Amino acid sequence: MRTILLSFLIGFFITSCSNTENNRVNTEEIKVSNHSHANIEEINTVHLHLDLDVDFEKKKLYGIARHKMSNQGTNKAVFDIKGLKINKVTSGQLESEKEAPFTLGKVNQNEILGRPLIVDIDTNTSWVNIYYETTKESEALDWLDSSLTSSKEKPFLYTQGQAILTRTWIPIQDAPSNRITYTANLRVPKDLMAVMSASNPKEKNNLGEYHFDMKQPIPCYLIALAVGDLVYGDLGNKTGVYCEPELLEESLFEFEDLPKMMNAAEKLYGEYAWEQYDLLILPYSFPFGGMENPRLTFANPTLLAGDRSLVSVIAHELAHSWSGNLVTNETWNDFWLNEGFTVYFENRIMEEIIGKEGADNLALVEFFELQEELERIETSAHPEDAHLFLDLEGRDPDDGVTDVAYVKGAFFLKTLEVSVGRKKMDVFLNNYFDHFKFTSVTTEKFVNYLEQELLQKYEIDFNYKEWIYRPGIPENCISLTSVGFEEVKTMARSFSEEREEYLQEWVKENIKKRSQYSTQEWLTFLRHLPANIEPHRLKVLDESLAFSKWTNAEIQFEWFLRSISSEYVEAFPYLKLFLEKVGRRKFIHPLYQALYKNKNTQQNALLWFDEFQKNYHAVSRNSIAESLQIQN
Ligand code: BES
Ligand code: ZN
Repeated sequence: MRTILLSFLIGFFITSCSNTENNRVNTEEIKVSNHSHANIEEINTVHLHLDLDVDFEKKKLYGIARHKMSNQGTNKAVFDIKGLKINKVTSGQLESEKEAPFTLGKVNQNEILGRPLIVDIDTNTSWVNIYYETTKESEALDWLDSSLTSSKEKPFLYTQGQAILTRTWIPIQDAPSNRITYTANLRVPKDLMAVMSASNPKEKNNLGEYHFDMKQPIPCYLIALAVGDLVYGDLGNKTGVYCEPELLEESLFEFEDLPKMMNAAEKLYGEYAWEQYDLLILPYSFPFGGMENPRLTFANPTLLAGDRSLVSVIAHELAHSWSGNLVTNETWNDFWLNEGFTVYFENRIMEEIIGKEGADNLALVEFFELQEELERIETSAHPEDAHLFLDLEGRDPDDGVTDVAYVKGAFFLKTLEVSVGRKKMDVFLNNYFDHFKFTSVTTEKFVNYLEQELLQKYEIDFNYKEWIYRPGIPENCISLTSVGFEEVKTMARSFSEEREEYLQEWVKENIKKRSQYSTQEWLTFLRHLPANIEPHRLKVLDESLAFSKWTNAEIQFEWFLRSISSEYVEAFPYLKLFLEKVGRRKFIHPLYQALYKNKNTQQNALLWFDEFQKNYHAVSRNSIAESLQIQN
């Protein structure tokens, strides 16, 4: 697909001066599809070398991005930038660099994409070097004061690139269809350590200088960096964990099964391609549960539940080492190929770790979420978001991050598996990963491969078109059942219907202790309490099990949602503490939305967000601000 029509680039004015985004030069409108301005069909980066200083005082990265490019004979190289200050651009290698004129194009379509950086080059140029610095508008970057870390002693920095934020910390051709290798030289404060989605140090060095090498080609949304007071612990079988020193023991316990997960994954879909698989436990502001940066999954500390009950997120990020990182969605419209395959694969890994029943329960919790999401989408401005294959042109790719891609995608594969049999399914997926490794795939390419390698081969009739190009959940979707879930659903019903005077007694008889049920069963119990359950009933539950103080973030989240909808205000001090500390969007965005929706709690939403937004990454902050109709 053409990502940019150069024919539109006529007659623009050229300067070679230092240029910030605000004193840009006028250019003609560039047509953009695929969320990138880059002309990767004419010239594309094959290797990136970053040479950067990390300045915690100014909260800035500054240095050079050296692009080694494959040039088909064009005299313009177009990069994506957003929130960057470009100081100078040169072409050629180190010894023979010469200054190259550049212009900054218009903000296009909407502000989400940033703007094109257009560099004049010779038709045989293969190195373009961009001297730049980041700004306060560099949304990928989260600069944390020491008070927001675990030790509260040293500051921390991390990046979040997916989907289109890499352009806010590196001037780059920011399209998932292009793959690059990269190296980096970084200078950081001497008491901190730097790690990247690349080969990593195991210890600090007293110069504060680190070198990184990523030899396998990756899409650039997977370039990642973190700088903090870090130590490393080995878990065996090429896995380990980076975290702040006081979290090491807890982390090694929580993720002890990681070597087993690696075995399970390799047994399913072939050898792990990235040599090493480590986790990095970030501060609480990290906006996701996990992010699959190659060799170094970024993980949220809310996963440290103390009982290994939330490790399926790690199975998920590990699975991305195949689905997503090895075989990548070619555009953000094909995002379900990353996430749907990964949720399917995650569940297969969990089946090996905790058995079929536990894995089914995990999938059922997700299925419940999908049904709620589909109800929301059906009445939204974009009911077509219920398709697996999306059309996000002109929209933020973030709009595609819904349970449709994740859970409908996974149930499509689960249903296909039941239709063809597990054996054939496993061979098919193995071949799929092998055939498309280190490339990107569109939905259409996948469909052709599915037709050829599975359906026609075995003469199987399967309604994949309905699954991929239509809304809703097709009739033939597999249905899972869980005895444990049925029990807690009945319990939720009988608790909410029990007569007032017998309530205490009912609880004594039916609810013994937290360990009576698994995390997923408690979640199901809470979800089946009526939204408007009387606050005093929640109080009775709280008195027996201390839900408000339960330090499992998934359970806290579900509990606080109920507490908001039924105005059980005694939970609010705990809710406030949660919102102050945790920045994971999946939790805090719906909590703010729920508070905002109710007239009686709307002020809480506004006041708390005003107070705590400084603790959040831009990804979470922007989503919440939009829901609270705040102009940030
Ligand atoms: N790659 C995603 C996170 C992501 C998606 C970031 C799109 C930016 C844009 C990651 O693998 C993910 O899905 N994380 C989930 C966990 C998972 C178990 C559903 C999360 O953070 O909750
Ligand atoms: Zn994922």
